[in-house]
Order: sequence, then C-alpha cells, then structure tokens
Amino acid sequence: MAEKNYKHWKIEEDESGIVWLHLDMANSTTNVLSAEVLTELESLLTVYEKQPPRGLIILSDKENGFIAGADVKEFTTFSSENEARDAIERGHRIFNQLEKLPCPTVAVLHGFTLGGGLELALACRYRVADNDASTKLGFPEVKLGIHPGFGGTVRCLERLGPLNGMDLLLSGRNLSARAAKKLGLVDYAVARRHLLEAARQTVAKPPKRKTLPFWVKWLNHARVRPLLARVFIKKVAARAPRAHYPAPYAVIDLWVHHFGDRKTMLHEEAASVARLIVGKTAQNLIRVFNLQEKLKSLGRLDSYKPQHVHVVGGGVMGGDIAAWCAMQGFNVTIQDRAHQTLARVVKRAHDLFKKKLKQRLLVTAALDRLMPDLRGDGLKRADIVIEAIFEDVDVKRELFKQIEPRLKEETIIATNTSSIPLEELSGVLQKPERLVGLHFFNPVAKMPLVEIVHGKQTSEETRNKASAFTRQIQRLPLPVTSTPGFLVNRVLMPYLIEAVVLAEEGVPLKVIDKAATDFGMPMGPIELADTVGLDICLKVAEKLAGQMNVEVPKILRDKVANKQLGKKSGNGFYPFKNGKPVKPEADKHYTPPTDLQDRLIMRMLNEIVACLRDKVVENEDLADAGVIFGTGFAPFRGGPVHYIHDRGVKQLTTLLDNLLHRYGERFKADPGWELLAKEHKH
Ligand code: NAI
Repeated sequence: MAEKNYKHWKIEEDESGIVWLHLDMANSTTNVLSAEVLTELESLLTVYEKQPPRGLIILSDKENGFIAGADVKEFTTFSSENEARDAIERGHRIFNQLEKLPCPTVAVLHGFTLGGGLELALACRYRVADNDASTKLGFPEVKLGIHPGFGGTVRCLERLGPLNGMDLLLSGRNLSARAAKKLGLVDYAVARRHLLEAARQTVAKPPKRKTLPFWVKWLNHARVRPLLARVFIKKVAARAPRAHYPAPYAVIDLWVHHFGDRKTMLHEEAASVARLIVGKTAQNLIRVFNLQEKLKSLGRLDSYKPQHVHVVGGGVMGGDIAAWCAMQGFNVTIQDRAHQTLARVVKRAHDLFKKKLKQRLLVTAALDRLMPDLRGDGLKRADIVIEAIFEDVDVKRELFKQIEPRLKEETIIATNTSSIPLEELSGVLQKPERLVGLHFFNPVAKMPLVEIVHGKQTSEETRNKASAFTRQIQRLPLPVTSTPGFLVNRVLMPYLIEAVVLAEEGVPLKVIDKAATDFGMPMGPIELADTVGLDICLKVAEKLAGQMNVEVPKILRDKVANKQLGKKSGNGFYPFKNGKPVKPEADKHYTPPTDLQDRLIMRMLNEIVACLRDKVVENEDLADAGVIFGTGFAPFRGGPVHYIHDRGVKQLTTLLDNLLHRYGERFKADPGWELLAKEHKH
C-alpha cells in the first residue's frame, strides 16, 4: 500500500485487496495529465510494481469526466525538441510501467476521456465506460497539430486494427461509450450506477482479452500497409494538406514503417511528437486552442441563468437561432407574421434535431421546447428577446417600440442586425442600456462565433449577460463595437470583393478559389460568396462601401438583378448541383497572376489592421480569435495578426505599396500598420 500523501491522487484499498486509485486534480475542475500528476502516478506505480495489489482500478473523482488530456499549457513551454522528447519519453516509461503491472488493471471511464486520458486507459488491461451520452472518448491531438504521444498510437492501432484505429487517430473525433464498446476500445459500457461493480467484477474474474479477427490482422501485414496507407493519405489530403498539417501523415508513417516492432514504434512515436510539438503548425494550433479558451472565459457569469428565449422573425436566421436555442435546452417561443413561416421553422428545426440528437426521445423533447407564437405571448416570460426581422431601421425601431412595454424589467433585447448601428435603434427604448447585438453567422448550427455588439448605450451588465448566454448555447462570444461590419464582415468584405474584381478581370473562378485554399482558407472566396448568398453579400457591401475602401463590383449587382443569388437559387458565380458548386476547369495553358494570393490576403490583413486601430475589438488576440472562428482563417497560421507578426510588418507594408502602385488606392496601407510596428518594435 502506498503510504505517502499525494496532492492529486487518493488511494483506497478495499477488503478484497483491490486498490482504487482516484484522480482528483487539485485546484482544477477537470483532470489533466500535468507533469505533477504524472510524477505522482510514477511514484505510486513504483510501489505497486514491488507489491502488486489484487487489482488496480483507476477512476476519476471529477464530475465532468475521467481525464481531458495532457496539460496543453505545458505544450508551449518546451525550449527545444530534445526537451519535449525527454518529457514525452518519461510519459512513455510511466505508461509502460502501468501496462506491465502483474495484476489486473481497470480504467473506469465517464465524461471526457480524451487524448492522454484515453492513452492511460489503453495502458490498463481493461476499460469499463459509463454508457451515458456525456461519455466522450477520443484522440483530439491532430487538432492541435500533434498525435498521441504516450504510446497511444501503438495501443490504439493494436486494439482496433488499422481501419478503425486510423479513423480515430486521423479524424480526432469522439466516440460514445457504446460505439467504443462496439469497436473493442472498451470492454464494457454500462449504466453509471453499475460502473464500479463492473470494474470490481472485472478484477475478480478477468475476462479473456479479445484479439482482432484474422482479416484485420492481415491489414497490418508489412506488404499490405503501404497499399492501405495510400488510401489513408488520400483521405487526409482531401481535408488537410501535408505542408500545412503534418501530424496525421506522421501517424500514417509511424504505422507503415514500424508497426509490428513495438519497441521501435513506441520510440519513434515519442520522437515524432517531439518534432511536431515544437513546430510552427502545432504551436499555432495550440494558440488557436488557447484563443478559444479565452473566448469561453468571456462568457463566464454563473449567476446568469436565463430560461426563456423569445425570437422575433422566423426567416433564415431567426428560425435557425430559435431551433439552436431549443436544442441547447432553452424554452423558446418563435414569433413571425404568418403561420406558414412558423411551420417552416418547425420543419427545419425537426430536421436539425434528427440530425444532431438522433434519439427519438431527445428530438421530441427539443421540439416540445420550441413553441410557435404568432401573437408574441412569449414576450412577457422571456429573459432574452432576439430580434431577427428584416434588415430595415424603421421596421426594427417600430418593433422595439411595440414589444418593450410587454417585457419584464430585466429582459435583455438582442438584435441580430448585421449592419445597423445600435445607436440608431436604441433611441426608441425606455431602457436603451438593455439593447445589445447578438450577431450570429449563417448557418447558425455550424458557425461557432457570435459577435456581442455593444453600442455606446449598452450597459456592461447587458454585455456580460449576452456573452454568458452565448456560452450557454455552446457558442463563442466576441465583444465588438457597434461600427460598420463589426469585425468579421468588415474583414471578409474587402477580400470577397477583391475576388470578384479578379473574376471580372477574367481570372478563372476555380483558380481564384484555389489561391485562397492554398493559403489555408477552408473555402475559396467565390464559393463562399455563393454559399452566403450574393444578395446578402451585395447588401453588406453596399452598406460598407460608404465607410470603407470598397467599391461594389458591377458583376455582383448584375448577378443579384438576374436573381443569380448563389447556392440558394441554384446558380451564382457557379452553378450548383445537389448543393455543391460545379467548378469549371481552367484552361490547361492558363497561368495565374503571380500576385493573385497576395491581392486576396493583403486586403484582409489591411482591414484587420484598420479594425485594431479603430479598436473594434479590445486586443490582437481577440482580433485573431474573431477572424479564425468567424471565417475559418487558416488555423495553422495562428490568426491574421499573428501571421502579420510572423511575416513582419515591414515586409507586408512593402508588399502593400507594390500593390498600391499596380492596382490603386484600395491597397493603401492603413495607418494602423505604423502603430503596430511601433508597439511591437518591428
Ligand atoms: P429573412 O428575410 O429570411 O427573415 C426575416 C423574417 O422576419 C421574415 O420571416 C419576416 O416575416 C419576419 N418579420 C419581418 N417583420 C416582422 C415583424 N414585425 N414581426 C415578426 N416577424 C417579422 O431575414 P434573415 O436573413 O433571417 O435576416 C434577419 C436578420 O438577421 C437581419 O437583421 C439580417 O441582417 C441579420 N443577419 C442575416 C444573416 C444572413 O446570412 N442571412 C447573417 C447575420 C445576420
């Protein structure tokens, strides 16, 4: 029995001689595998190695899960590849120690069981998991630009075989306990109340360990691996090019070259993660992870507990916002002017719930929470009202005038306007301090960001509550000022317009899009404009044209006049088939202009610099976070401002000067570049 006192682990020995090792990380609501947690585990295992108990059961005392992964904070502290490698190899030694204990070992899993947490579980002989929907098992490492580094790639592929194993490692997706049981990743998936008994029984009567079927083993054969690897590589390449995201390719390489030679593969796994973790991609993706945590923290206000959301306007946005809020557990009333519109909202919501919630009971419960409300009866009960009616100042003002007297004193009024300054709307309210912008993006169910727009009159309390609500519906709040285009549309618009100008100049559409995706954007600007809707783009462009350096291209106006609105009308810049653009091939002999990518990206970077100067967001990190989560800006580059510092202000302003001489005023460097250079001593 281990005698010492431990900070993070609690040890309990039951009457049958089984040791229960509880992880309860000090000063944290979540368990992570920090260096300290591992050091203590090592010391415990050294004792059990010498005096093995009857069985060892590892479990977590945290409500939210087993272990959420390694400590990401520690990932940025390595000063060299060698230092990273030492830390990783230490983890290897500890997990090997656990694997080699002569007694049965069982990991008891519930909630988050991710990354290093799942690796630890795999180093145990058995795993039992809570079959509740909150149990999530997975290897999210590739999303941080690395792969499992504590023997997880080896153990996962051994346990699941290459098809299921690679799928888990390369996609970074999570499995439910049931799915994990089906694949053989866990031995039992049982109800929470049976979890401990299941672990005890597993030690008492250890089941035979399952082996893979013959044909799966055959896929691991040295001659088969290179062939199968080609399939994996093709699949990965469609999502993440090797030059930008090396980690998934490194996993495939490890398997191809070393599977079957366990010792070497473990050794090479450590070397590979060490190489990746100090590289630019991983460091930038870790930065993105931290930015996400930062946005989440802005929504922390535990005392705010709204129950009822009332949405006015059941169009594209209002309908989807209402459905999303209902899916997240809120009681929602949705108001519009006609029954038919509300029926459409419910139909769309039903489709969304079926897709996301899957189980019938959950779908029915979510539908029950979404109430069509033609007369606006929900207004008096609402804790928060979200307005998403036509983008028209007078119509919105009229609505606010009508609804305010029907609201509770403390109800927040949120508008989803994408272009109207809040100051133009708040004048009609008795309590203008309760008006805030909640600017969602389309499609609501996919876009993680919500801009929290504050006008001069918005009170701090309203802002904080709006951010907290945004978090409660699983979205990321970004505080922005009520200035034209806020942050995301303002940065996006010049880039989209430059793409349209290029199209007018005759550059093939596919070539324009490719220049952007080669940079790392998730979708090219032409396809993006078609997807958002050319009418919406035109409206935002016209609105911004007055205030910014943008001129609305004629081709955009023509398309909208001809009802070529993009995806929703089946035809825009591209024709659409089954919801996908059909992109005509460019002429084989066509050579794109060498400055094509610069023209697109520099418009965007120049605008983000202008936003910083205008203080649309509070600081550079929030600017990066907003553009990454609002536009999908190449995550592996760590955000546009980070990218500017990486390339250097001087180099980029010289580039802008060249473009200014070639193409005119729209490339004039914003005065903000000078401030940036001064602040960072570039
Ligand atoms: P939409 O035209 O699809 O829907 C507007 C809905 O509001 C219609 O169903 C209409 O019947 C209803 N409506 C109008 N006046 C009303 C009233 N007095 N009472 C009740 N219902 C009323 O418009 P969409 O695209 O959903 O936009 C709504 C708001 O969201 C606008 O302010 C827009 O700027 C903003 N927005 C739109 C985005 C988009 O991509 N469509 C993205 C972000 C914000």
